[in-house]
Amino acid sequence: MSARLLNKRILLIVGGGIAAYKTPELVRQLVKEGADVQCLLSKSGSEFVTALTLASVSGNKVYQNLFDLTDETEMGHIQLSRNADLVLVAPATADLIAKMAQGFANDLASTTLLATDKPVMIAPAMNVRMWLHDATQRNLETLKNDGITIINPNEGDMACGETGPGRMAEPVEIMEAVAQALMPKGPLKGLKALITAGPTHEPIDPIRYIANRSSGKQGYAIAEAIAVLGAETLLVSGPVNLPDPEGVRVIRVETALEMAAACEEALPSQIAIMTAAVADWRTKESAQEKIKKNTDNTPPSLELTENPDILAGLVAHTLRPDLIVGFAAETEQVMDHARAKFTRKGCDWLMANNVSPDTGVMGGDFNTIHFLTQTSEESWEMLSKQDVALRLADKIADYFLETHKLEKQEAR
Ligand code: C5P
Repeated sequence: MSARLLNKRILLIVGGGIAAYKTPELVRQLVKEGADVQCLLSKSGSEFVTALTLASVSGNKVYQNLFDLTDETEMGHIQLSRNADLVLVAPATADLIAKMAQGFANDLASTTLLATDKPVMIAPAMNVRMWLHDATQRNLETLKNDGITIINPNEGDMACGETGPGRMAEPVEIMEAVAQALMPKGPLKGLKALITAGPTHEPIDPIRYIANRSSGKQGYAIAEAIAVLGAETLLVSGPVNLPDPEGVRVIRVETALEMAAACEEALPSQIAIMTAAVADWRTKESAQEKIKKNTDNTPPSLELTENPDILAGLVAHTLRPDLIVGFAAETEQVMDHARAKFTRKGCDWLMANNVSPDTGVMGGDFNTIHFLTQTSEESWEMLSKQDVALRLADKIADYFLETHKLEKQEAR
């Protein structure tokens, strides 16, 4: 599932035109992409679509009246317009466009539009003559100069029986325009990144499990840094106590097998960063009931079996990501073990660190990284896990800028 509008809040202002009947579908499209949609239904809009329908598809309360005191106490029009990442007007009628161009504020829709400090997009819909009228075109010019984005209407048959420009753009076209406007525009734009983080829990019985001390902090910081640079970022996380990073889709798993399946599903991805401390072994069979103590107090024997190596799976995959970054958490002879692991694993870059208890790296906020590529080795100074993430993200951006340049040259 793509979720280009994940965590994005959109305020949809529904104007009073026949095209308002398409707005529930528009809300559905936006919600499908992960957006949180808040609807503001104008009085004339409510002649064409009901507040109940919009509330059902958006899952949010619908705002209708400027003088509704409850709403003003809960969330006034100013806050309503500022809470959103983007304000979308659909359909934008000739009347609403004229009001916006003049700065009128005599109902909830126009007041909210005048109060907002967020990007505004409008999807006009009106009769062809009204659309082509000098006054409307003049008003649209004013709105463009004010920085408002116009999603142009389509040509075709109209509800009034005439033909020409004036049909509101289709819901999917409007959703695309919104997604484009809100998409991060960093250097990794257009690339997909897969990141694993945290430990895995391998059940022994319904109560007990095999685990390790990974906190997930480094992987979460990396996912956020990569998303900020514009990649569509998926974080497959083992059990950790951290909130979802901003702008990142998170799939939470428990076992190595679940993590491997989620990574497989995420392909194709151009970038893979494997920070997870995946348990090397799981019990061959997890008991269905809690294992009881033996009467003679002998401990039960656990038969272990190897977990799949997720990183190695990606390296060998037919959909191998273009850049695979592995981690090597060691407690002694860090560089020797790291170099051997780098050769064995076949990833493109390796981030090695010392995680012995006295370093405080496991669960802590700092990390000292040795960064290995096929042609170089760097030892970074001790950095916060956020700074490690930013440095890695920068290197990834440079890598893709470089390879992209090379591809361009080859194409010449
Ligand atoms: O072999 P080791 O666990 O030290 O390898 C570390 C690297 O391999 C890390 O990037 C880790 O996320 C990845 N790995 C994996 N699946 C495993 C074991 C390790 O993806 N089963």
